[in-house]
Amino acid sequence: MSQIVGIDLGTTNSLVAAVIDGKPTLIPNERGKFITPSVVGFTDTGELLVGEPAKNQAVANPERTVTSIKRLMGTDRRIVIGEKEYSPQEISAVILKKLKLDAETYLGSVVNEAIITVPAYFTDAQRQATKDGGEIAGFKVERIINEPTAAALAYGFDKGGEARTILVYDLGGGTFDVSLIRMVEGAFKVLATTGNNNLGGDDFDYRVVEYLIERFKDKEKIDLKNIPDVSQQRAILQRLKEAAETAKIDLSSLLETEVNLPFIYTEGEEPVHLHETLTRAKYEELVRDLVEQTQQPIHLALSDANLAPEQVDAIILVGGMTRTPMVQRLVRDEMGKEALKDINPEECVAMGAAIQAGIKRGSLEEFVVVDVAPFTLGIETEGDKFSRIVPRNTAIPCSRKSLYRTTVDGQTEALIHVLQGESDKASQNESLGEFILSEITPAARGDSLVEVFFDYDVNGIVKITAKDRKTAQGKSITIKASKKRLTTDEVAHAQRDVSRHTGSMLAQRERSKVLYEAESTLKDLTLLIRAGEKGEKKIDSIEISRLSEMANKIKEALKSEDLSLLEEHIEKATGLIADYSY
Ligand SMILES: Nc1ncnc2c1ncn2[C@@H]1O[C@H](COP(=O)(O)OP(=O)(O)OP(=O)(O)O)[C@@H](O)[C@H]1O
Ligand SMILES: [Mg+2]
Repeated sequence: MSQIVGIDLGTTNSLVAAVIDGKPTLIPNERGKFITPSVVGFTDTGELLVGEPAKNQAVANPERTVTSIKRLMGTDRRIVIGEKEYSPQEISAVILKKLKLDAETYLGSVVNEAIITVPAYFTDAQRQATKDGGEIAGFKVERIINEPTAAALAYGFDKGGEARTILVYDLGGGTFDVSLIRMVEGAFKVLATTGNNNLGGDDFDYRVVEYLIERFKDKEKIDLKNIPDVSQQRAILQRLKEAAETAKIDLSSLLETEVNLPFIYTEGEEPVHLHETLTRAKYEELVRDLVEQTQQPIHLALSDANLAPEQVDAIILVGGMTRTPMVQRLVRDEMGKEALKDINPEECVAMGAAIQAGIKRGSLEEFVVVDVAPFTLGIETEGDKFSRIVPRNTAIPCSRKSLYRTTVDGQTEALIHVLQGESDKASQNESLGEFILSEITPAARGDSLVEVFFDYDVNGIVKITAKDRKTAQGKSITIKASKKRLTTDEVAHAQRDVSRHTGSMLAQRERSKVLYEAESTLKDLTLLIRAGEKGEKKIDSIEISRLSEMANKIKEALKSEDLSLLEEHIEKATGLIADYSY
């Protein structure tokens, strides 16, 4: 029987998990890590890199490296690499394909189905794009579930029947959402969900980048944002972004950190270095308004669910950004209590997705999960009005119908414009698409009725149809493929494209594994040699020179990336190291 996996496809990091021996279990990548960077790279020779190796080439090759693609899902933006153009769906598919290969290697079986998580606040287009990405990667996408709901499942999975209300505060690399979930005897009901699809760790990093650029300008009179050489400019920004992220992470546990970027810029022959001390206090000043932007969604979720903060029994923090002390303070101040400490903010979403996969496969007992629509959906009516059909926070799946009268004598066509949002004015909401209902029976104005149906499925994806009430005539049309959406043909084509890369992705995976093992072996050897030289370990000088020789051989082979030679060296070196580990 083919396995179903659960996937947390994150802006910065992705994870895959499955139920193994009745337990949700994270699956390691080729480097033994659960977290795979959501980064895709294309080498100059057209080879695909995914995860750690792609992240590593980001500085050297920024124009051929794609990060944070999740932020573009559901848009019609294209990523141009050399001569080729890629949709966000295709880039995401490469990440998903890599996770599929990791899972298949680890589980030793084919994995054809997946549950993929998305932020609760993802729109229809973003969900559809995620689903398409999964299909391009070769998965049957069993279901799209909301990340906070997955986190709640991971938490509630072994908690028995006790009823409780949970607040999930999820601040990741690119998105933010808050959900209130009621858990009663194996049933999870989402009460309300709010958030911001464009707020996450990336924004915090850019605040630090801006600050570093300002300081550098003051000190060196060089504007790192205005470097004439385009490729040098990109490399500089990439280095700044990485340094900013590292500093940000450091400041979650330290009160002060150093940012060092030697040779950040070369003026003529003269290299200029960036060196800056950043305190936690300064950092908090730089990002205060970003943290505060998460306040209002908490209030809105509580008021939508008709709850006071003290009625919430437990708070779950999800997303790497929630390790930030300032974020934890805000949540505590808003909710009047501490968040749970025993939930891993990076791992729980994938665990929840695996639980959902286990339920689908029948290897876990049934949980009932009832999610909600994150936005109000409706159509535009005369005079720029927004007619609401599915109010936000309606439990899904659901079907709603609405009736409209024709507005012109003899009208045979009606333009149905579908929107999402909370404004009474149609023009202020987001357009999902439009279509024309034709073949309406001509009649006096107001005499013909048009029925519009909204069908929300469990994945939060909507299908809209319309027909003439009287004749049941007129065409039943689903929403027209907007430019944002890929056609079935495009998905099939992209699928062939990605699957052509399977062989080279597997080879790349193997290479990445060997290089990683070689690097760790080299590190161990170096530590051992140093310990010998310092006399902390009893190793005679002949042995030390043998170890050094081994280390040099590994270094050489690493330079030439000679994999079979590396494997040979790793085996020998591991033997040598083992002799000294007592
Ligand atoms: N200790 C830390 N302190 C502060 N921020 C951190 C820490 N560790 C990771 N981060 C930040 O958390 C973010 C990544 O979090 P996570 O892996 O949960 O996001 P994601 O799942 O990729 O994104 P999303 O859920 O928004 O799609 C990054 O911006 C990263 O810099
Ligand atoms: Mg996440």
